[in-house]
Amino acid sequence: MHDAVFRNANLATMRQGSPYGSIEDGVIAITQNRISWVGPRVEWSGKAREEHDLRGAWITPGLIDCHTHLVYAGNRAHEFELRLKGATYEEIARAGGGILSTVKATRTASEDELFDLAQRRVRQWAREGATAIEIKSGYGLDRDTELKMLRVARRLSGLKVKTTFLGAHALPEEYQGRADEYIDLVCDEVLPEAKKQGLVDAVDAFCERIAFTPEQTRRVFDKAKALGLPVKLHADQLSDLGGAALAAEHRALSADHMEFSNEEGIGLMKGAGTAAVLLPGAFYFLKEKQLPPIDLLRRHGVPIALATDHNPGSSPLSSPLLVLNMACTLFRLTPEEALAGMTRNAARALGLQASHGTLETGKQADLAVWQIGAPAELAYAIGANPCAGVMRSGAFRREVP
Ligand code: NIG
Ligand code: FE
Repeated sequence: MHDAVFRNANLATMRQGSPYGSIEDGVIAITQNRISWVGPRVEWSGKAREEHDLRGAWITPGLIDCHTHLVYAGNRAHEFELRLKGATYEEIARAGGGILSTVKATRTASEDELFDLAQRRVRQWAREGATAIEIKSGYGLDRDTELKMLRVARRLSGLKVKTTFLGAHALPEEYQGRADEYIDLVCDEVLPEAKKQGLVDAVDAFCERIAFTPEQTRRVFDKAKALGLPVKLHADQLSDLGGAALAAEHRALSADHMEFSNEEGIGLMKGAGTAAVLLPGAFYFLKEKQLPPIDLLRRHGVPIALATDHNPGSSPLSSPLLVLNMACTLFRLTPEEALAGMTRNAARALGLQASHGTLETGKQADLAVWQIGAPAELAYAIGANPCAGVMRSGAFRREVP
């Protein structure tokens, strides 16, 4: 006997093998927060305590946003104005604006203020069918504020949250000219403490001309490894520093951005099981010209995930559905590749592939219900929201908060 069954639904299971892994006129059953049966109606003969008629709606795995910087205070609308007058993201960062201006605001904000801001943001993801989100620290750049950000991320409700420690995001003002000493602080103090307090699921770094060198990144990754934490990397966003290969060398869960990544690195990623996370929101908002190497990723069979990269500087984007559209219009992904990017492959980029990202027996019952006629509509529409509800861990909410 199953706990609940959803009938009269079309299922985009996102299993590989057929387009969207779709099952029209399908049935999905849930027992103890897990999918206990999924398949076509004609094969269903089970019984359930609760029955729901979905009247032809589509069900997909809940969307997963695998790269965000969602906890912060303040905003950077003023820098947007400067960029519209011709300043570049790099110039603003070098002049002490950029990430460091958000660091000031985030250090000053109380933990409860940060929590209220983040909790309000998170609701928008749930409204658009997301059930899981990754959130990075990296606007503290000192021990107490990094820990504060991670605690806030852990307190959020409504979505499953995976936290990533991004202490190596930028060099704080008080360490100017002493980047190696700052990396000492990250490796010897902040990261071990965050790990000890149970606040970290993975470790990320920003390897870039305006951030940290490959050597400094390596030190952070070695420390993460010693602590038993998986790594990810902001790789090759503005220039090719060999980020893709560096990520692969450390068997990273993902290499993210990747606009300037080279083929050798991409080949290594395939062997290491490292996913690519593409971030069309940042590409759009910074008016980047260099497209990520989509064809190379396809050719080498590297799983492509997508995310909002929500942050106040390079991607103030709060819409997972718009990411699907942008991935198709800007990066020429197919709508199916885009949906896989925010379900199956996003789960991989977070190390959640055993429990999330597809509709399969045994996986967590995290799903989204959509009033659409075909799954391609999710990537096609701009600014529409056909989400009729989400289910997380088996609890269905028609009225998403
Ligand atoms: O992913 N690239 C580094 N980090 C963010 C930007 C953060 C910011 O500008 O505040 C990103 O684009
Ligand atoms: Fe980012």
